[in-house]
Amino acid sequence: MAMEKKATLLIKNIGQLITMQGPVPRLGDKMKDLGLVEGGAVAVAGEEILAVGKSEDIEGRVNLAEGCTVIDAEKAVVSPGLIDPHTHPVFSMTREKEFEMRIQGKSYMEIANASGGIRASVRDLRETSEGKLMRQTSKRIETMLSYGVTTIEAKSGYGLSTESEIKQLEIIKEIDETHTVDLIPTFLGAHEVPDEYRNDREAYIKLLINEMIPQVVEKNLAEFCDIFCEEGVFDIEESRRIMSTAKDKGLKLKFHADELGSSGGGELAAEMGAVSADHIVYISKAGIKAMAKSGTCAVLLPGTCFSLNSKQYAPAREMIEAGVTVALSTDCNPGSSFTESMPFMATLAALNYKMTADESFSAMTVNSACAVDRGGKIGQLISGLPADIVLWKMKDYRELPYHYGINPVKAVIKKGKLVVQRGKVTIK
Ligand code: NIG
Ligand code: FE
Repeated sequence: MAMEKKATLLIKNIGQLITMQGPVPRLGDKMKDLGLVEGGAVAVAGEEILAVGKSEDIEGRVNLAEGCTVIDAEKAVVSPGLIDPHTHPVFSMTREKEFEMRIQGKSYMEIANASGGIRASVRDLRETSEGKLMRQTSKRIETMLSYGVTTIEAKSGYGLSTESEIKQLEIIKEIDETHTVDLIPTFLGAHEVPDEYRNDREAYIKLLINEMIPQVVEKNLAEFCDIFCEEGVFDIEESRRIMSTAKDKGLKLKFHADELGSSGGGELAAEMGAVSADHIVYISKAGIKAMAKSGTCAVLLPGTCFSLNSKQYAPAREMIEAGVTVALSTDCNPGSSFTESMPFMATLAALNYKMTADESFSAMTVNSACAVDRGGKIGQLISGLPADIVLWKMKDYRELPYHYGINPVKAVIKKGKLVVQRGKVTIK
């Protein structure tokens, strides 16, 4: 039967079409299910997916609108746009000196305690104009888009004063409104205790609870609240206090937990009904169980372990077996993981988590949608969902982790518009 709506964009002659149709989230063995269609096509009407299926079928029943863009995929792989569920993209100063100090033997925490790390970024951000921050953040978002990412969770956390945290969240909001990529804002005022409160951390916690969280909520600048719950930063009891306030005020919760050591952050995230617990390199067995039970997503950040040159990676296979929703992310930030490349995370996940390419695709689409509380709304190619699509320079999806250190993206479509073209895309 012919369809009522007409297609404004048609991608045909797709070799492997990764639809991700099927269960949300993808748990356990289901992570290997890509909803794969061989010889597929995708029709788009305006900003939405119109039809997905076998090329002959779609071409037979979809009417093309006048001026419809027809892309010949030339047997390449096509997938939903990737979702990066954990980034810190608003910063100006980079910290390559710290990277060098680490390869010479200093640890991340030693540098942080010597007043480098997050606090160095904070000193710089407070002095940097909004215009400059806006330009630099936009450039980073643009790079992420060119690597196939169409939705990004973006955190504040380099201001650590009411004014400069709000400045960061306003930049995130403005980029979301003016840029093709969708940004999801997270308040991370509890990223570190800033210089001026080092001798009175309780006063900073009170500022978070009584002023910063209420103002962020009142101005409607964040959907999530996050915290660096780690020994030496915010401990379990402090985290519980701060995150209870955020939850009471209506923010959804995310945790940086068990990143550098085991402090019970994963358990706390599960107990508080957080949407995600991120890093969880040192999570306990009880923590894994608790997360599976509460449905708290695990956002794994292999780029951080890679860049910190850590030998320890999150126990991804154990989590997958336990039925935890596993997602992948870059953690793009100037300190522990300076990368905009989601495809490279698939390489790191393969080598360090033993995750196969199909599992990584699930972790970067349907499951990362769940990690930003948008499960079933983005990250799949289903009629009626936003037309966020990537055309890859690959004939087989298994190339994603295998061919590393390059950009494997051929084209990106965001809400039905062709926004990135790398090399020749055959358009009729
Ligand atoms: O996810 N752990 C806390 N936040 C970042 C690092 C931030 C920084 O060093 O600037 C992370 O690793
Ligand atoms: Fe982070």
